[in-house]
Amino acid sequence: MSSGTVPRAGTVVREDEVVRYTFPERVGHWINGAAYTYLLGSGLALFTPFMYWMAAVLGGGATIRFWHPWVGLLYMATIVWMHSEWRSDMRAIPQDETWKKNIRAYVENRDDAMPPQERFNAGQKQFWWVMLWCSLILLVTGIVMWFPEKMPFSLHWVLTLFVFIHSAVALITIAAFIIHVYMSLWMTPGSMKAMIEGHVSTRWARAHHRLWYERITGRRN
Ligand code: HEM
Repeated sequence: MSSGTVPRAGTVVREDEVVRYTFPERVGHWINGAAYTYLLGSGLALFTPFMYWMAAVLGGGATIRFWHPWVGLLYMATIVWMHSEWRSDMRAIPQDETWKKNIRAYVENRDDAMPPQERFNAGQKQFWWVMLWCSLILLVTGIVMWFPEKMPFSLHWVLTLFVFIHSAVALITIAAFIIHVYMSLWMTPGSMKAMIEGHVSTRWARAHHRLWYERITGRRN
């Protein structure tokens, strides 16, 4: 690769390595991860007295009440960015159905029993769509909750409803987030390196995302 070129995902870096995530993709993902982690801690502190000790860790009740919505906007900006980058890779393909039917083999780490996958497998796609839709709901309900004093008294039931929806949807994202972090850190060795350094070995790409590997390299083995 000549110096000064920005490698796109799928660029063959060396004979035995391909780019999995570009630098902008990784920066966007990690800002998103940091923002989500802050929202998780501050949100749980605002949600229940049992988790209020988190507020002390993050600077106090008034501080997290001020920053939580602003960090939420930063988080949403990175969600929009990630969506613009990965939208086409997140579309369903026929192989996804076979993947879902074989989910047991996937959980048992029997990759050889799984159908070949594109850049993202069906589980990664499902995770993304859950996070995207939940994030949009969190945004809408969160903006209303940001300015409770603007809500006319006769409509306070809407505020209560939105608080409930905001909390319930946040809990769904927490479940999805835990699975995502578990899968990335422990279930699929090499994933973390991909999101930090950007590239993976061709062996990794072939084992986990064979259709993607074949498409980007033009190789069949
Ligand atoms: C802060 C904790 C997080 C860690 C440690 C983490 C780790 C990772 C890793 C290692 C990958 C690469 C997976 C691969 O290519 O095989 C990845 C991909 C990805 N991450 Fe995260 N992530 C975190 C937070 C998030 C959050 C909060 C979101 C969404 C709101 C997110 C969305 C994604 C998406 C869509 C991908 C690509 C598809 C996938 O692998 O699921 N991540 N993440």
